[in-house]
Amino acid sequence: MKKEKILIMGAGGQIGVELAMALRKLYGTDNVIATDIREAHPLLDGAGPYYILDAMDANSTLDIIKKEGITQIYLLAALLSATGEKNPKGAWDINMRSLLQVLDLGVEQKLTKIYWPSSIAVFGPTTPKSQTPQKTVVEPRTVYGVSKYAGELWCQYYNQRWGLDVRSIRYPGLISWKSEPGGGTTDYAVDIYHKALEEGKYTCFLSEDTYLPMMYMDDAIRGTIELMEAPVEMMKSRMAYNLSAMSFSPKEIAASIQKHIPDFTIDYAPDFRQAIADGWPQSIDDTAAREDWGWKHEYDLDKMTADMLKHLKEKKQPV
Ligand code: SER
Repeated sequence: MKKEKILIMGAGGQIGVELAMALRKLYGTDNVIATDIREAHPLLDGAGPYYILDAMDANSTLDIIKKEGITQIYLLAALLSATGEKNPKGAWDINMRSLLQVLDLGVEQKLTKIYWPSSIAVFGPTTPKSQTPQKTVVEPRTVYGVSKYAGELWCQYYNQRWGLDVRSIRYPGLISWKSEPGGGTTDYAVDIYHKALEEGKYTCFLSEDTYLPMMYMDDAIRGTIELMEAPVEMMKSRMAYNLSAMSFSPKEIAASIQKHIPDFTIDYAPDFRQAIADGWPQSIDDTAAREDWGWKHEYDLDKMTADMLKHLKEKKQPV
């Protein structure tokens, strides 16, 4: 077992729940301290050390670091793209203040590593849409994207200025069955599986040909841990790494579901999230992650659909 003591902030979110479970397998349950502003997610409840913690509360964070002897932090608390547009200043405040506080704590407390997620939302309408490169035009138009890009620059700055080992990934839309997404523009690609099983139909808030980069949560969690475990000399970029697995449209995910549920139907009622999606890349070039630290995805659309439907069916109709 590795000798690290990990603090996860925002452990109740879509990534946090599964990351907490995966890190506990690797580092031991008691060495991974899960925290969130909310009560424990059912999958984390009673499953290991847990604190209620507001990611903006630096004093309480420091108390936990000292009490638990924390050596690494995964800061996952954030407002996402759709929620952020409803509360831009709040999103900026939550996303930035929590990051800067954690970066300062990282330096002061001499933490060995920090993880902070970025997103494809750093890109905007002026970015090349297809196979978007690691380094390209970056002019985000959502407050979420602005906060993520500013955050990447801060992470790079703390690395160069203070030697802090901060690592980051630009996640595409993440699809999972264990934990629920919240407030994102890519969330439709999770809801659609639930509705397919529950109602046999789905009304999508994006138009049928809106292509977005996506990834199955299993790949995202493995990629995150691989990035964090990689030797420091492999970290050629201190901006977040592009990470790619698949790209599909609502029409294509519906067709993938119809291979299992032939009567499934989809219709479309685009809302304000369409404009957010239209500003983002359709697919991502992740050569840098593949070359620098060996990233490789495992799930494509059909493999993910089969796994999602299997697990969600079991979850909805426990035997
Ligand atoms: N899944 C996120 C969102 O839709 C993108 O990082 O906001």
